[in-house]
Amino acid sequence: MLRKPFIAGNWKMNMTVASAKKLIEELKPLVKDANCDVCLCVPAVLIPEAVKAAQGSNIKIGAQNIHWSASGAYTGEISADMLKDYGVQYAIIGHSERRQYFGETDETVNKRTLAALNSGITPIVCVGETLSERENGETENVIYRQLEQGLKGIDDVSKIVIAYEPVWAIGTGKTATDAQAQETVAFIRKTAGKLFCPKCAEKLIIQYGGSMNAGNCKGLMAQPDIDGGLIGGASLKLDFATIVNYDK
Ligand code: 13P
Repeated sequence: MLRKPFIAGNWKMNMTVASAKKLIEELKPLVKDANCDVCLCVPAVLIPEAVKAAQGSNIKIGAQNIHWSASGAYTGEISADMLKDYGVQYAIIGHSERRQYFGETDETVNKRTLAALNSGITPIVCVGETLSERENGETENVIYRQLEQGLKGIDDVSKIVIAYEPVWAIGTGKTATDAQAQETVAFIRKTAGKLFCPKCAEKLIIQYGGSMNAGNCKGLMAQPDIDGGLIGGASLKLDFATIVNYDK
């Protein structure tokens, strides 16, 4: 298989120790025969419990952000090595909510991505356009810029995961159509080929994210360039297992 499908959950700022443990325990038997890689990106404070609960299963645990420095005077921040120490294998970088509410820029996305790679954590780098950017025909320009600047200095783009998350589809119940998602994801692969090398772009895992759920996952996953999903709301319930088992 050139690209193993990859379904990841983004719990965002949800769940408690008890509810996290319960959901992971319930998901374990339901996802154990998955043909894709499976990950849950949980709030930082829940990482230790989530790693413990997922132990011995095929569920990997990820973080939702990473600081670019190894250590130092950065109050409130968490370094890649600290996350790695707890068994974190993936980290979402540059989610649109971080770009929108927390001043994330392509430059900081780049620094975080390089820090993750340096520590052996696979970054899930998020890109995507807003509704007005789409309506103004700027989607490809925006994504080109996010890729060119956000991924500067990476030697092999197949070492990361990219999540295409159109901002207008996140948490809105408004999914991109299969064709819209495929078109932009194909553009991302073509651009990655141009910026890096066509061979690594062919191996690059690209997820779709934005109101992906148990009902629409099959159609999205059937698209030739879509290799997985980054699931928000539906990852907080057992529906996540249905998405993971989209091919059954
Ligand atoms: P929803 O699935 O809730 O739309 O969220 C998508 C997302 O932002 C995943 O990172």
